[in-house]
Amino acid sequence: MQAVVFERAGRPEEVLAVREAPEPVPGRGQVLIRVEARAIQPADFLFIEGRYRVRPAFPQVAGLEGSGRVLACGDGAEGFPAGTRVAFRSPGAWAELALAPLSRVYPVPPQIPEAVACQFALNPLTAWGLLADCSPAPSSRLLITAGRSAVARLLARLAARRGVRASLLVREGSGYALLEGEGGALLARGASVAEALGRAAQAGPFHAILDPMGGPDTLALMDALAPGGRLVTYGLLDDRELSLKSSRLLFKNMTWQGFGVDGWLDRAAPAQIQAARSELWAMLAEEPGLLPVAAAFPLSRVDEAIRAIRESRLPGKILLTG
Ligand SMILES: NC(=O)c1ccc[n+]([C@@H]2O[C@H](COP(=O)([O-])OP(=O)(O)OC[C@H]3O[C@@H](n4cnc5c(N)ncnc54)[C@H](OP(=O)(O)O)[C@@H]3O)[C@@H](O)[C@H]2O)c1
Repeated sequence: MQAVVFERAGRPEEVLAVREAPEPVPGRGQVLIRVEARAIQPADFLFIEGRYRVRPAFPQVAGLEGSGRVLACGDGAEGFPAGTRVAFRSPGAWAELALAPLSRVYPVPPQIPEAVACQFALNPLTAWGLLADCSPAPSSRLLITAGRSAVARLLARLAARRGVRASLLVREGSGYALLEGEGGALLARGASVAEALGRAAQAGPFHAILDPMGGPDTLALMDALAPGGRLVTYGLLDDRELSLKSSRLLFKNMTWQGFGVDGWLDRAAPAQIQAARSELWAMLAEEPGLLPVAAAFPLSRVDEAIRAIRESRLPGKILLTG
């Protein structure tokens, strides 16, 4: 089969190669999938660069999620008839065939387009799990950083469904802007995260903050949090170190939590995962535009797809198809 393979960690432009790879055989608890589409995500870059929680095992097929049709199931993974449309999350998705553990395979409702299905297993479940973990009260204030990201868009919509007032922090020029909800009124602008949040302080502190930036701006986020509030760090867009006095957390009685979707899926009750799947599929069937696509390239043109990501300022994911 054709696959996008890397033999060492590094920049995708330098280490990825399209080549023939052995066809995988489903083992116990595994599902074999003929992959039809894959969204290229920030996590894919981290994985290829060797900076992700899941480490590559060389030669490694790239890619962590996708969608397609079930070809076969290993022992203990029965229940998906051949031909079932599924979304999945598992290393090795950038190939014609991929294996995924049963716990990361999700049947796709018929009305969901492939471009949406291939994005289901990561960002929508992450947004749902993040909100479930911080369970903001309906009248509470929530801050979502990297506000133009796919996860932020999903978080804002899910928060609105729960009656929670979400503000979005977005990059703007060389500074930051704070918006009241999706496409909402401008609350404040500032040259830094601290300045933008400081200028909006009269609107009150945030009860929860969901942040994939990380880095030194984490301190400004802590300062914008209400006493007893919760900061959830779920990404490393800014992977610089920060230094912190314990009093910053202590005097506020705040909680600082790290969140990874796999950890959440492993500890969530089956009924909670089922509730997430039902709500997310229904929401995405109504609004497929919540997961926009900027462009699609065949798997064999992965180099062009990577270049498009580096160069594009368009909202939406780049897909690898076929
Ligand atoms: N923990 C988990 O399980 C989990 C699961 C899914 C995603 N994530 C993480 O969530 C984040 C968002 O993923 P996504 O797929 O939604 O991303 P996305 O749609 O590709 O968008 C990335 C966004 O990040 C912003 N950004 C990039 N570098 C930044 C920086 N240094 N400071 C502030 N903003 C920055 C960009 O802002 P501009 O628009 O200004 O360029 C862009 O809007 C990623 O870090 C991803 O790894 C984590």
